[in-house]
Amino acid sequence: MKRTKIKDLLNGEEGNVQVKGWVRTRRDSKGGFSFLEINDGSCLANIQVVIDHSLPGYTTVEEQMTTGSCIAILGKLVTSQGKGQAKEVQATEVEVYGPAPLDYPLQKKRHSYEYLREIAHLRGRTNTFGAVMRVRNQLAYSIHRFFQDRGFVYLNTPIVTTSDCEGAGEMFQVTTLDLANPPRVDDKIDYSQDFFAEKTFLTVSGQLEGEIYAMALSEVYTFGPTFRAENSNTSRHLAEFWMVEPEMAFYDLDDNMDLAEKFIQYLVSQVMENCADDMAFFNQRIDTTLLETLRNIVDNQFERLTYTEAIHQLQKSTKVFNYPVEWGFALQAEHERYLSEEVFKKPIIVFNYPEQIKSFYMKLNECGETVRAMDVLLPNLGEIIGGSQREENYEVLIKRMQEKELNPEEYSWYLDLRKFGSAPHSGFGLGFERLVQFVTGMENIRDVIPFPRTPRHAKF
Ligand code: 4AD
Ligand code: MG
Repeated sequence: MKRTKIKDLLNGEEGNVQVKGWVRTRRDSKGGFSFLEINDGSCLANIQVVIDHSLPGYTTVEEQMTTGSCIAILGKLVTSQGKGQAKEVQATEVEVYGPAPLDYPLQKKRHSYEYLREIAHLRGRTNTFGAVMRVRNQLAYSIHRFFQDRGFVYLNTPIVTTSDCEGAGEMFQVTTLDLANPPRVDDKIDYSQDFFAEKTFLTVSGQLEGEIYAMALSEVYTFGPTFRAENSNTSRHLAEFWMVEPEMAFYDLDDNMDLAEKFIQYLVSQVMENCADDMAFFNQRIDTTLLETLRNIVDNQFERLTYTEAIHQLQKSTKVFNYPVEWGFALQAEHERYLSEEVFKKPIIVFNYPEQIKSFYMKLNECGETVRAMDVLLPNLGEIIGGSQREENYEVLIKRMQEKELNPEEYSWYLDLRKFGSAPHSGFGLGFERLVQFVTGMENIRDVIPFPRTPRHAKF
């Protein structure tokens, strides 16, 4: 007989079935029955299995069917007589695949997220992590759908790279040299003897390579792992995270903002539609305003304001900030959250930032003081998207590189795009884990990725 997933059993027809999964709880009644709650990860709900103690072979499995064990049941799917569930399976045959001794760490009580992070190999078997990973999966699927429906080409960009997209100082180096005894010329390490015969790093962004293919296929997107070696121990930063980066020829900054807004609205609406049970769980257990917030995001336009307007808003406020509010300074998380949560009470897109605080590749405005950058900022989260129109003018780009002390020779391929058939183009990057955080209401980014990598932590 073929196994049926619990998700399908709960909507399925009565009759003979096979169910396989992990025991969440077990209760034994005096009347000679055991009631097991089984979960197989296909949905939030468990299925109740009723085992009559007079079942042949019951005594051999009795001791093994404890919380955490993995079992297979043959039985009959029937309408439940008990309270709390519509359907149940009355077992006719029980097999234990893997018992779980009493030291199984996920016993009945509710565990802290800190504790669960220490058992990342088991936390997927809790309600919360099951729901997070199903929502994460739905978001990944919807991301591809959104772009595929619009004719974007999915592009894989390299993970090992020689160039720094976002500015120096926060990249992981990749090397096969002997760290205890690296080859040297004079005082310096001789990277010509390294694996790639030059210094290489893990990528911080696939954007620059994305631009190459936008200049050939018009509209592309990447969706892959990116790495930042910044020592940020916050609830919003990972050292290894996934980023979605669309890059579009012939888009100006307005087109870019339109796409970003539609993108977020689509993803939120898809999750609400396709993960209703998991989302109801988050709304009940994590944040009781979650569904209302998400509904508002789908239904209302984002507020768009320039960086200069944002500074005015902040200066007008009576709120005391830890970081200075002055034209030319970066907006800090506290500023971003104040604007989206207290002033506008909805997602905002801040654009036209001072050129000196933004990356070299962003298109310079005519005034020469600001660039066509945009950040999408969400209430309760802060920055989820960073993007811009790109500088397509060869001379201006070289000048910007020199001002930022980058060597144009190292970016000759990037400059070639401006030399041969240059075009106005734009793109952005969305932090995938921040999206999952926002949609689920989970407070810590470490709890929305299966195996978080953060400073001093790379163990399973
Ligand atoms: O704003 P960022 O640094 O932009 C770029 O990397 C551009 N090259 C993207 C582009 O235009 N193609 O990063 C983009 C997004 C941020 O808005 C944030 O959501 C996320 O990536 N992000 C992080 N997420 C988790 N942990 C970190 N350490 C992150 N750093 C950035
Ligand atoms: Mg940014």
